[in-house]
Order: sequence, then structure tokens, then C-alpha cells
Amino acid sequence: MEQNTVNIFLYGKKYTVPASLTIMGAMEYAGYQLKRGCGCRNGFCGACATIYRIKDDRELHACLACQTKVEDNMYIATLPFFPLIKQPYDIEKVKPTEQIMMQLYPEIYACIGCNACTNACTQELNVMQYIAYAQRGEYEKCAEESFDCVMCGVCSSRCPAGISHPQVALLARRLNGKYLAPESKHLTDRVQEIKDGTFEELLQALMDKPIDEMKELYNNREIEK
Ligand code: FES
Repeated sequence: MEQNTVNIFLYGKKYTVPASLTIMGAMEYAGYQLKRGCGCRNGFCGACATIYRIKDDRELHACLACQTKVEDNMYIATLPFFPLIKQPYDIEKVKPTEQIMMQLYPEIYACIGCNACTNACTQELNVMQYIAYAQRGEYEKCAEESFDCVMCGVCSSRCPAGISHPQVALLARRLNGKYLAPESKHLTDRVQEIKDGTFEELLQALMDKPIDEMKELYNNREIEK
């Protein structure tokens, strides 16, 4: 049976590929060996940010290559890395004040409200809104709104103010986790148990098992509801 195919353009070069493939699958089908721009292959790691246009369509689209099917006449370029501003800080020393954003990421106050970040987000997050929360020092809200960010960097690639949205959101989530969110007692207890070596013997016994038995145990493990 003849396979259903589409024509795509990878970095401007034409390839005919099965229509059932994702962009990532199509790149490999075309012969690319992906060393960068490919990680989990499941929409979680954000390594495979990609931009494309469909011929005769004015809109520039952004997506994750591992999650998006090819379409006919798709012009594709990948964005395996985007140079974000990543400020060093010690989470033990910074505090969840408004000043900390001003100090580390002052460019967020140069946001012109164009919403290009939100329009470009591969996770359909309200990026401009979480930046507004960060500007006001509302870190719980920023953490909540940005929770599904995979740090692909497409938002920042479109921002005229040069904001590194994923890094701003990461700081907000860290501040929230460290200083604002209520303590999760069972987590604290479990961390203490780990520190006390409660699971050492169990872990050692597990590591001594042959690989097949480990796989068996993994595949039949109890999954938390
Ligand atoms: S490879 Fe991880 S999100 Fe696509």
C-alpha cells in the first residue's frame, strides 16, 4: 500500500516524509542524527523547540518537535538552545521580596505588553501574565501560572524587551517552594528518613538484583493514584 506522504522543508531543504511522523521523527527519517534539540521525546524536557511556517500562511508557529505532526509544505527550523539570561543566586540567601527581581532580572520591567511571549508559548501558558506577577512580587501566582513551563525558550526568542521568561519563572517557583508555600510535612519527614539511611538496605538489595528482575519489578510496581 502506498504510504501517505507530505513535503516538508528542513532548514530550507525539501524532503518527502510519511505524514504520520512528528517533526522529530521526520528529521530522523530524513537522516538527521539528533544530538542537540532532543531529550525526553515526550513533551517534558523542552529541548526540541521548533519554529515553522506553512507555505502561504503568514503566521509563524512555535512547537515542540517531538509533539507535533508534520504538515504539507511546512518550513521548519529548530531551536535546540536559546541563550537566556541566567543569574546566579543562592536560594538560601535571597528572599521573596519585590527587590530581588529588580536586582536579578530588571528587564522584566521593560515589558511593553505586546503578548508575543504568550502567543509563542509551546505550552499555551499565559507568559505575559506570569511576568506581570513577577513584576509585582506575587511569586505564588507566578509559580502557579508558570508551573507547566518546559523552558524551551521560544517566548524569549520573540521578546522585544529581552526578557528571559523561563528563568524568571524558575526563580519565582524556587522562592515559592522555599519561603512561601506551606511546608509539606510528609516530604520533610521522608527527606529526614533518607538522610538517616532508612532506605539504604532496601536500595542496596535492589541494586544487587539482576537487570531483568529489576525491569520486572519496575514494570509491575505500584503506581500512586
Ligand atoms: S524531546 Fe523533550 S520535549 Fe521534545
